[in-house]
Amino acid sequence: MIAPPLALYAHFPWCVQKCPYCDFNSYTLRDELPEQRYLDALLRDFDAQLPAVSGRTLTSIFLGGGTPSLFSPASIGRLIAHAKAQLGLANDAEVTLEANPGTIERGRFAEYRAAGVTRVSLGAQSFDARQLKLLGRIHSADETRRAAEELHAAGLANFNLDLMYALPGQTGAAAEADLRAALALEPAHLSQYHLTIEPGTLFAAAPPVQPADDIVDDMLERSLRTLTEAGFEQYEVSGYARPGLRCAHNLNYWTFGDYLGIGAGAHGKITDPDRRLVARTQRMREPRRYLAEDPGTLVHKQIGARDLPFEFAMNGFRLVDGFTDDLFEGRTGLPIAILEESLRDLTARGLVKRRPKYWAATPQGFRFLNDILVELLPDTESALRS
Ligand SMILES: C[S@@+](CC[C@H](N)C(=O)[O-])C[C@H]1O[C@@H](n2cnc3c(N)ncnc32)[C@H](O)[C@@H]1O
Ligand code: SF4
Repeated sequence: MIAPPLALYAHFPWCVQKCPYCDFNSYTLRDELPEQRYLDALLRDFDAQLPAVSGRTLTSIFLGGGTPSLFSPASIGRLIAHAKAQLGLANDAEVTLEANPGTIERGRFAEYRAAGVTRVSLGAQSFDARQLKLLGRIHSADETRRAAEELHAAGLANFNLDLMYALPGQTGAAAEADLRAALALEPAHLSQYHLTIEPGTLFAAAPPVQPADDIVDDMLERSLRTLTEAGFEQYEVSGYARPGLRCAHNLNYWTFGDYLGIGAGAHGKITDPDRRLVARTQRMREPRRYLAEDPGTLVHKQIGARDLPFEFAMNGFRLVDGFTDDLFEGRTGLPIAILEESLRDLTARGLVKRRPKYWAATPQGFRFLNDILVELLPDTESALRS
């Protein structure tokens, strides 16, 4: 077992306004942004985790949220420079900043780029004024268009647009119109998420009526057709990219790579190849407590041999190309034979296909990924028991 690539995720927990569908660890900003204090806490958090990854170089950085674009380019630059100085960052490494189109002032993207950001992920969600209002978004479609223009002008053509579909009252044609409006902005990458009603959100308390399954199927077919015609490749359940412009940071998650997680509620995953152990880490969720604890307790939980195959597969099957036997064995330290029986069953059910040395979901399996995961859990348990 060798140490996999190592990425860095930094979480920025505040938003101008909490969206009614969102269950991310994000909070409406009610007072002034504690920018310097939070930055100081992030750097301390990073330093406290360094001993677990000494000698390793970062392969990508993702500044996510919440809304990291509420933080100034100077602060973002300070974090990137610190991470680089402490661990090093591979040449041409991807450094992504998540941005809400409602928080971007003129000229801001050029400053983020100068600060070390190489890629931006913009939360567009929809281009339909009625949907944007229903989703509680703080921006208009025109503001998203302006943000995209700014990105091109700043030399950050490598950007992603997040879109949501299966929105209340949405037809297949309306979802396609959203997609075409997004493509007109010439993004490098597109993420398309099925609106899910998450427990604890405002939408869960008063769920909007979403389109029926046959309409959602129509949306997915239109998406694949429209995006393929536009030169995009689907490489993940929700991810489409122009050739060569897949998101390196997310690919590292899906190939079960390692990552440091810093910031309120941030998760990490770290492999100790010498002891053949894989652990998950988590910081406390609540920003005020995170700021007070300096840098506070890092919850550290080993992934047991029972759960490892499942956790690996949960990520690996999200990719159109799936995973190789070698990747499974290298990342988990376990033999692929442990999955053999359940993979055979899944193949017989038409949910998984075997290519030489490769396992991947079929189009049917892709549509019902949960069925694959449910199958993997119990079989793995019995294989380990025997
Ligand atoms: C952390 S947010 C992105 C950046 C920024 N906070 C924003 O919203 O503009 C990540 C993305 O997850 C998606 N998302 C969040 N909650 C969702 C839900 N309940 N169902 C589907 N997609 C969701 C949205 O597309 C959102 O842009
Ligand atoms: S979707 Fe984005 S802007 Fe809305 S609450 Fe969640 S993290 Fe904040």
